Amino acid sequence: MSRHSIAVIAGDGIGKEVVPAAIACLERIADLHSLSLEFTSFDWGSDYYLSNGRMMPVDGLEQLARHDAIFLGAVGSPEVPDTESLWGLLIPIRREFQQYINLRPVKTLDGVASPLAAENPIDLLIVRENNEGEYSEVGGRMYRGLPHESAVQETIFTRLGVSRAARFAASLASSRSGKLTSATKSNGIIHTMPFWDEVVEETVKDYPGVSVTHELVDALAAHMVLKPWTLDVIVASNLLGDILSDLGSSVTGSIGLAPSANLNPEGDFPSLFEPVHGSAPDIAGKGLANPVGQIWSGAMMLEHLGHPQAAAHLQAAFESALRNGHGTRDVGGTSSTSEFTAAVLTAIDALAPLHRVAAPDGPALAPDGAALAPDGAAVFGTAAP
Ligand code: NAI
Ligand code: MG
Repeated sequence: MSRHSIAVIAGDGIGKEVVPAAIACLERIADLHSLSLEFTSFDWGSDYYLSNGRMMPVDGLEQLARHDAIFLGAVGSPEVPDTESLWGLLIPIRREFQQYINLRPVKTLDGVASPLAAENPIDLLIVRENNEGEYSEVGGRMYRGLPHESAVQETIFTRLGVSRAARFAASLASSRSGKLTSATKSNGIIHTMPFWDEVVEETVKDYPGVSVTHELVDALAAHMVLKPWTLDVIVASNLLGDILSDLGSSVTGSIGLAPSANLNPEGDFPSLFEPVHGSAPDIAGKGLANPVGQIWSGAMMLEHLGHPQAAAHLQAAFESALRNGHGTRDVGGTSSTSEFTAAVLTAIDALAPLHRVAAPDGPALAPDGAALAPDGAAVFGTAAP
């Protein structure tokens, strides 16, 4: 039996609702696929900050490093400055564990109306550089409180950082349509963005089946609204990728659907799986949160841990629950978080025969592990290139 130890940080707000929902689904899948998932919960986040003056203990990263993966809900509270909650927990984890890829699938799902009159299904992957770029600590403030108060923040692009993001994206593109789009702004930002373009261009030359198009991010944002189905893999810097992925989740129906994987592709450190959304204090504690982004992140985690069949099964189950009209309010349905979760659990059981879980620990049934979902589209290739 495969065993994995998973660190769980539910965090704040709706994180405390969607994480237990996703864990119930993961436990059911684990039973059916003979996996042993050992979840260890950490009560870190804004409440911890209000009692202890920090988001996680001093040795928090050491504690997390002992696990195979990290499963995070969201952090952020109206009572704690967002800079504290982000820089006290999520950003140190992403940096120290060299999770330099933030992979964010954007896909239309049956049963969820897109606000666009989209005739074609959307299925694209955003590869966001996750360690450097615009989110740097280099800079400072001067003349605080004076009329000429000023602030400077440097953007840092390194050849190593840009090329490894581009390599990951090119490798994904070569396993799909071969079409890679690089988000840039090299007309206005004249030092860092032309460097980004050059390094992406050079890196992609190692992938003969892949062609890269450089698109200015303003035009690319419009492109994502007008014809998102013509895009496949997008590689973007930290800030541009952050913005484009929120846009992507909105064009497919709701930010509550969007998953993400913060990957250390080499496996030197645990990777972190979390929905794209935040702690949503406006709906927290009301049973209104859509758990799909969290559950889908759990499917990405299963795939990353080497279980594509289990991942495809979980993905097929939440897609089926949505298709059968069990969605939460943000996607036009009437279900509460727990009602939707119950529908996913039912779908997991109903789909078990299709996912051939009768032979625990057996060899992968499809050699590429990808053919098991009824729609054949459940596996999105988060494996390291
Ligand atoms: P948000 O994503 O929490 O909420 C934006 C809007 O989407 C809200 O109207 C919310 O109700 C709705 N929404 C979000 N997730 C939903 C779900 N699963 N189901 C249904 N509706 C959902 O972003 P916001 O309001 O900008 O930030 C709230 C807090 O979360 C802030 O403190 C922010 O810093 C933090 N945050 C944390 C993130 C993380 O932990 N990775 C990411 C983004 C924000
Ligand atoms: Mg964001």
